[in-house]
Amino acid sequence: MQDFSESFSVADAKNPSTDANPYLCIRGVSKVFRKGIARWTGKGNGITALDDVSLTVNRGEIFGLLGPNGAGKSTLIKVVTGIVVPDKGSVSLDGIDLKTDKVGFMSQVGAQIETPVFFNKRSGWWNLCYLADLQGGLPEQRLKDIVELVGLTKRINSRVGTYSMGMRQRLGLAQAIMHKPSLLILDEPINGLDPDGIAQIRDLILRLRNEYGTTVLFSSHILGEMQTLCDRVAFIAKGKVVAVKTRAEIERGLGDVAVLSVICDEPNRAAALVTEKFGFRTKVQGTVLYVEVKGGNTADINKTLIENGISVVSFSVKTRTLEEMYKELTK
Ligand SMILES: Nc1ncnc2c1ncn2[C@@H]1O[C@H](COP(=O)(O)OP(=O)(O)O)[C@@H](O)[C@H]1O
Ligand SMILES: [Mg+2]
Repeated sequence: MQDFSESFSVADAKNPSTDANPYLCIRGVSKVFRKGIARWTGKGNGITALDDVSLTVNRGEIFGLLGPNGAGKSTLIKVVTGIVVPDKGSVSLDGIDLKTDKVGFMSQVGAQIETPVFFNKRSGWWNLCYLADLQGGLPEQRLKDIVELVGLTKRINSRVGTYSMGMRQRLGLAQAIMHKPSLLILDEPINGLDPDGIAQIRDLILRLRNEYGTTVLFSSHILGEMQTLCDRVAFIAKGKVVAVKTRAEIERGLGDVAVLSVICDEPNRAAALVTEKFGFRTKVQGTVLYVEVKGGNTADINKTLIENGISVVSFSVKTRTLEEMYKELTK
C-alpha cells in the first residue's frame, strides 16, 4: 500500500469546509439542449439543463450535488468531465481551464458516470487489466492495491457477469481511481444499491479522502446519504443551484426547528400561554396545539402548561427532516 498512498495527492487536505482554498471552480455554466437545426444555430427553444451554475469545491472536500431527477446533476457532471460542452461559463481545476487545456485538466480527474459497462464473460481482474492497458498499462501490484482498496480481492477472479450491483459499482470505482486522480467524480454512485452496498461505497469515499486527500464530487437524489457523507451539499433544482450548505448547517437547520404537538383540554389557553412565555408560533386544530419550537426546551413548555392547570393528554416532538428542508429549498 505504501507505493499507492505516496502516489496519491495528499496536499492541502487540512481545511476542506471553507471557500478559502477553491480547487474546482465552476463559473456561470449554462446548457440548453436543443433539437435539430436549433442545435447548430444555438437559437430557439430547448431544455434548459443548467442555468448559470456557479460552484467551488475545495481541495480534500467531499461535495454532494443533491436534486430530484431532471435537476441537471448529470449534465453538470458531464460538463465537468468534458463530455458536454456548455453554452456559457467556464470550469477550472487548480487553475487549469478545461476548455484551453483539457488534457491537463483531465489528467487529474477520475470519473464514473452512469452504470459502468464491463465484459461480463471475463473476470473483474481481466476487465481492470484491459482498461489499464487502454491507458498505457499499470504495474500489477498497483492494480492489486486498488482491488484491495475497493474490497474486491476475494471475487476479482470471478466473471463480472456474476457480480452484484454493488460489486459492479466498486469495480467501476476501481477503474475511476486507477490513475490516482486528485478529483474523483461519481454520478449517482449509490443508486440502486442495498444498505450494505451503500455502506461500502460510503467507506470507500471516506477512505479516499481521509487517507489520500482525494477531492470527491458526487451526485445523488438520496437525501440521507448526503447528510452523513458530505462536507457540503449543493441543492440543485431545475438547472439552478438553490443553496449550498455545510454539514453543520444542515444539522443545525434540522435540529433547530421542531414541531411540537400537544393534546390538551384547553388548547386555546395553552396557545396563548406558550406564545406569551416563549414567543413561539402556535396553531390550534380541535384539541391539538401545534407549536413551532425554535432551539428551545420542550420540557419547559410542558412544565408551564401543567403549572397553569392545563391537563396534557399527549406531548410529542417531531424534528424537521432533511426531506422537508429539501422541499423548502427546491420548491
Ligand atoms: N442529451 C440530452 N438531450 C436533451 N435533453 C437532455 C439531454 N441530457 C439531459 N437532458 C435534459 O436535461 C435535464 C437535466 O437532466 P440531467 O442532467 O440528466 O438531470 P439529473 O441528472 O439531475 O436527473 C432534463 O430535463 C433532461 O431531460
Ligand atoms: Mg442523473
